[in-house]
Amino acid sequence: MRADLHFDTLAIHAGQAPDPQTGAVMPGIQLSSTFAQQAPGQHRGFEYSRTDNPTRRTLEHCVAALEGGQQGIAFASGSAASAALLGTLAPGDHVIVCDDVYGGTYRLMDKVFAPLGIEVSRVDMTELRHVEAALRPNTELLWVETPTNPLLKLVDIKSLGWLAGTEGIRLVVDNTFATPVLQRPLLLGAHAVVHSTTKYLNGHSDVVGGIVLTDDEALARKLRFLQNAVGAVPSPFDCYLVLRGLKTLPLRMRRHCETAHALAIYLDSHPQVAKVHYPGLPAHPQHALATRQMSLPGGMITCELHGGLAAARAMLSATELFVCAESLGGVESLIEHPASMTHASVPAETRAALGITDGLIRLSVGLEAEPDLRADLERALR
Ligand SMILES: Cc1ncc(COP(=O)(O)O)c(C=O)c1O
Repeated sequence: MRADLHFDTLAIHAGQAPDPQTGAVMPGIQLSSTFAQQAPGQHRGFEYSRTDNPTRRTLEHCVAALEGGQQGIAFASGSAASAALLGTLAPGDHVIVCDDVYGGTYRLMDKVFAPLGIEVSRVDMTELRHVEAALRPNTELLWVETPTNPLLKLVDIKSLGWLAGTEGIRLVVDNTFATPVLQRPLLLGAHAVVHSTTKYLNGHSDVVGGIVLTDDEALARKLRFLQNAVGAVPSPFDCYLVLRGLKTLPLRMRRHCETAHALAIYLDSHPQVAKVHYPGLPAHPQHALATRQMSLPGGMITCELHGGLAAARAMLSATELFVCAESLGGVESLIEHPASMTHASVPAETRAALGITDGLIRLSVGLEAEPDLRADLERALR
């Protein structure tokens, strides 16, 4: 695919050309588990679908092009993609992870990889000096989410990429919340990007999937080995659905952000709302970084209600268009309560230290008409 094409064009065409046999414009869903060989070991690039599959390969090419990377390695979930990245480490290696990371990612590090000998430090990465102070001789990986989940704090990818470069270690950025429409970490110095494609990349809440993108050949080789050896691969049908979702990703992201920005301003002035976390608001602690690092401030809003747990529970039961459910990034708006839902696996004292209070609610702003969403929030807050 030509390198000079615009992002919106790549989202529709990267890795995809009309089928030479039939002219089909959409990529086929190749369900075959195995592929004929002319002689043992002589084949047309595919042997067995756990190892490689045409629909999966198309998805890997497309997301790699969108993130500005050379290699894409797809997995059965975002968690499987994260596990593969952590699986490239050896016992005794040390990982520094941002304190406000997705609860499931921290659980993976703390409950699965720490017992296998991986050391993990959880650090507030909004200040570079905190990360520098946490470095150890055996540090191999910096793991960043930006915006973080659920508090939407931002981390300066360029500074951390510089630090990782000077230390000879790798920087991983979970780009699930921002997507390559809003920021492209590989171009800012990250060594790998990980996505839960379950979220914005697919965008229609009907797939669980994950992918890693990288330009680092050695890392890509290890990840491809793990993809095949562990076998946590996405089905061809799921790959097709994500490819289909990607075609509208740029349009969807612009609308998610436009509506979220308007709702964040509305919530910020509402008497029932104590605090709004949204990188597009000038009062956000990293608003300047948001304007530098992201093309738009994102489709997620987190806010703190006056009235704590009781108010949050009442709010979650009262909205109609905002459906009470985990996950994010779909066309439909969702509302959730991090303390009892997505971040329930984070110990209560850690949640308290991070500021994930009982009155905190998180909104994934969908593509419905903004006045309808605003009216839904207004009714529920009342
Ligand atoms: C930022 C982030 N990373 C990774 C994951 C894990 O992805 P999956 O649910 O596809 O395993 C999630 C899930 O919510 C997430 O929000």
